[in-house]
Amino acid sequence: MNVALIYGGRSAEHEVSINSAKTIEKILKRNHHTLYPIAIDRNGCWFLQKQVQSTIDERIPLWLVPGSGIYAQSGMLPIDAGFPTTHGWGGEDGNLQGLCTLAKIPLAGCDTVSSAIGMHKALAQSIFDRSGIPTIPTITVTTAMTATDSLMEEFRRRLGPSLFIKPENAGSSVGITALIDPDRTRFARALQLALAYSERALVQPYYPEVIEVECAVFEDSQEGIIATRPGIIKNPRKETFLSYNQKYTLQGGAYLQLPSGLSDEIETEIRSLAVRAFEAIKGSGYARVDFFLVDEKPILNEINTLPGLTTTSHWPKLLQHGGYSIENVVDHLLEQAISDFDRRWNLRTRYD
Ligand SMILES: Nc1ncnc2c1ncn2[C@@H]1O[C@H](COP(=O)(O)OP(=O)(O)O)[C@@H](O)[C@H]1O
Ligand SMILES: [Mg+2]
Repeated sequence: MNVALIYGGRSAEHEVSINSAKTIEKILKRNHHTLYPIAIDRNGCWFLQKQVQSTIDERIPLWLVPGSGIYAQSGMLPIDAGFPTTHGWGGEDGNLQGLCTLAKIPLAGCDTVSSAIGMHKALAQSIFDRSGIPTIPTITVTTAMTATDSLMEEFRRRLGPSLFIKPENAGSSVGITALIDPDRTRFARALQLALAYSERALVQPYYPEVIEVECAVFEDSQEGIIATRPGIIKNPRKETFLSYNQKYTLQGGAYLQLPSGLSDEIETEIRSLAVRAFEAIKGSGYARVDFFLVDEKPILNEINTLPGLTTTSHWPKLLQHGGYSIENVVDHLLEQAISDFDRRWNLRTRYD
């Protein structure tokens, strides 16, 4: 198959995306596909590469033509499907998925709608709530709201003494603040930071002793949606939350404990909630569903529709631990992308 491997992008997770692409590049090569690596630079421009690398050396510009495909100066690239490893803004939020749909490029993973919902945590939460999936109590703040003392006190009355503030649609722990016994200045600063990354900020109770649990979900040709056994995040250098550095750069930072050590009963409950969450947003392909254990009860924190795929990332580890071959799953994701695309493209669009 001819596969466009799309990576980089304007998001804060640009580097992570490149590392994810390196993992998928190896798998696609092992599976004997022909690769068209496409790097998206920090301005959002697309360039065809010979191979995935950390810097963009080849600056061969590309055009996406609606109803047709992806073109370089030499003509249309003969692409059968795309595999994006773009995290965060533009790449995981439905924008890239919509762009590729209109240019007739089937993409592995979640489609436009499920990506957009998954990335917008408050929207996803309202869908999870309606599906009876337990979530974190959350208040949504917009830029129009002023960070006054009375607003902060109202939030503390409704959520608890310490607050957690995050952008609605960022990732990798950017723009996040834990506010332990906040005052108005720190509260205002935290909102300002979150709102620098996202149009809306989310305010939640801060759970200092939270146990974080992650579960990989993917679609299998035979068995339908599978949720792997979950893993627990161990974070020896935790300060107040799992930070970007602890996730990606620190030596001795966070790691995934597998097997989780949780009871069979809780693992089964988490796996079932993960599948329900994936179905609730009408996900396709794969995702990672993250939970908190609060008082031994799983509550859903977020669904990642384009989780990290680096050599240290959790989604590949969860699959491996479950005995699933990532090579087979990646091939299935591409085949599924093509069949889903054909089905959607051929839905009736005229009134007869
Ligand atoms: N309400 C909360 N209380 C305590 N810690 C939290 C809370 N929400 C998130 N965290 C911590 O912050 C990290 C990042 O938050 P998360 O909502 O998962 O955003 P991201 O999309 O950036 O991963 C989590 O992995 C967890 O360590
Ligand atoms: Mg997270």
